[in-house]
Amino acid sequence: MDKNISFTLKVWRQNGPKAKGHFDTFEMKDIPGDTSFLEMLDILNEQLIEARQEPFVFDHDCREGICGMCSLYINGHPHGPAAGATTCQLYMRRFKDGDVITVEPWRSAAFPVIKDCMVDRGAFDKIIQAGGYTTIRTGQPQDANAILIPKEDADEAMDCATCIGCGACVAACKNGSAMLFVSSKVSQLALLPQGKPEAAKRAKAMVMTMEELGFGNCTNTRACEAECPKNESIANIARLNREFISAKLAD
Ligand code: FES
Repeated sequence: MDKNISFTLKVWRQNGPKAKGHFDTFEMKDIPGDTSFLEMLDILNEQLIEARQEPFVFDHDCREGICGMCSLYINGHPHGPAAGATTCQLYMRRFKDGDVITVEPWRSAAFPVIKDCMVDRGAFDKIIQAGGYTTIRTGQPQDANAILIPKEDADEAMDCATCIGCGACVAACKNGSAMLFVSSKVSQLALLPQGKPEAAKRAKAMVMTMEELGFGNCTNTRACEAECPKNESIANIARLNREFISAKLAD
């Protein structure tokens, strides 16, 4: 049984994208170590509602590391101090009695704050809409072996496909670059035969859309790779650059 901890919680409050934000500070008492970080925020909100104060707004959905919604910047790290984990997979046992825990939203020009720590990540949807899919007519369900794929390629494509589009890579990057996200989405299709026919069009459209939406340029700091909750590799960025340059040369 994990012991209870008491700590100071500082959370970012902001009424909208243009509003001036500030930190609110709360003293959290006797929170069990086996409470998840999001459950701890639920406790805070119960206390705020009981005191007739406005609850703290944050995003969440699956609470099991799948949807990528729980976008909180905790003590200087996207998703907090646990490596390879999302905020919803973070437990209070990671913190010590007397700690100061600071919670901020993803900070990026391309992810405007909606309220408090909820940001609009619609920019990622626009990048996917630009080319993160295949338009092949598959017809009737086929035998799974109709198109043979080497196991190494299938495994690598699956690793790329585990990107949950949470935006931690953008939040971690001093340039606000979305290259790890875009390269993972391009790679998962570029590695498979089904993705090849539209590969050139896809790489160009997704990179162009990313640039139009105000994401910064990649300068290889590798902060994205270090903070990605799904351990996406920057080898994907090298693959995206190859795909993009070959597409431009073919033009
Ligand atoms: S709430 Fe879905 S990944 Fe955290």
